[in-house]
Amino acid sequence: MALERTLSIIKPDAVAKNVIGEIYARFEKAGLKVVAAKQKQLSRQEAEGFYAVHKERPFFKALVEFMISGPVMIQVLEGDNAVLKHRELMGATNPKEAAPGTIRADFADSIDANAVHGSDAAETAKVEIAYFFAETEVHSR
Ligand code: PPS
Repeated sequence: MALERTLSIIKPDAVAKNVIGEIYARFEKAGLKVVAAKQKQLSRQEAEGFYAVHKERPFFKALVEFMISGPVMIQVLEGDNAVLKHRELMGATNPKEAAPGTIRADFADSIDANAVHGSDAAETAKVEIAYFFAETEVHSR
């Protein structure tokens, strides 16, 4: 088992639904530790930079608009196989395809407003964590 970190974002729709605590409970029950966290209103520039890899995709503008539509809750999760474990907890990108009991099946309304983001690989996670957190803000335990 590899001890990993992953970046998790609770998106504006789920923050507005007041389910931060319910989502954190799922992380903790799955053995993931919240080792850094901040609530933030992303600027357009921050959202565009974070999703730069998708800038040629047709949904890019809508994704950025959605991500700046309200505050997000950003956290670093740490644990064995954290990247995959977190993605399993989230469920498929499109909530219509997400397995029952996953975060997106329970809290997401559409592919545009899909409640959570999670890094897709350990290497991506390092870049995404550094985008939002200084190393001194992450507290392994
Ligand atoms: S890919 O090809 O695997 O990288 O794409 P995917 O992971 O499915 O999606 C990348 C991010 O774009 C969001 N997305 C969308 N937003 C708005 N509208 C549409 N149609 C749409 N399709 C995908 C998706 O939620 C991903 O965001 P994050 O924050 O990474 O989950």
